Amino acid sequence: MKKLYGIGTGPGDKELLTLKAVKTIKEASVIFAPNNKGKNIALDTAEDYLHNKKVVLIDFPMGKVEKEDYIKAAEIIYNEIPEGECGAFLTIGDPMVYSTFIYIVEELENIKIDVEIVSGIPSFVASAARTKTPLTVKGDTFILCDEFKEELLNYADSICILKTLKNKENILNTFENNDFKYNYIKRCTWNEEKVLSERKDIIKDSDYISLILGRKTSK
Ligand SMILES: C[S@@+](CC[C@H](N)C(=O)[O-])C[C@H]1O[C@@H](n2cnc3c(N)ncnc32)[C@H](O)[C@@H]1O
Repeated sequence: MKKLYGIGTGPGDKELLTLKAVKTIKEASVIFAPNNKGKNIALDTAEDYLHNKKVVLIDFPMGKVEKEDYIKAAEIIYNEIPEGECGAFLTIGDPMVYSTFIYIVEELENIKIDVEIVSGIPSFVASAARTKTPLTVKGDTFILCDEFKEELLNYADSICILKTLKNKENILNTFENNDFKYNYIKRCTWNEEKVLSERKDIIKDSDYISLILGRKTSK
């Protein structure tokens, strides 16, 4: 039987790749990752372990990705892994957090292939460490989202918003009106990492690899 590992490569620092990620990448005959103009961040993080392995970058359309696209991706993966061998699909952070891999796994369930997931350190966990922001202490609620609504702050002691390209000004206004302190973390753990806390700097920035982490001021 063929096998696919879904591997989280963490936030970007090569030292935050897990031992298990390295071991499974080394074992894989073929490596998969979404194609981002011929590149992929997860692939860069794992580059030291790819050697001369076959790398298949899978194309997804810009904008809305349809079920058909995930079916096609699942078929490519199945066809590329030799019988009795394993492949590795790399994702940034953790594969179970806002990842394309989740939709591909749904389609792989209809195909005879074994799937195993290797956790990675998610971006929001690395960013909490970087800014020394507790995500939770006893009794707290933490909310992770990629679509911000003011009501969420009624339930959260801490909150992290991923994919912050749009709407940053509204998010910061809402945080300030609800007594939440915040940091904007860009390219966490990379050499180019930046932690911004001034609203004008945050609003000016437009990097997809960024998030906003907030915590109630009273905490
Ligand atoms: C498609 S989601 C993938 C999330 C990923 N699976 C995880 O566990 O962090 C992409 C978003 O993750 C966040 N992200 C990923 N890596 C990051 C990093 N090193 N620094 C800051 N944000 C990051 C950004 O908000 C980005 O828009």
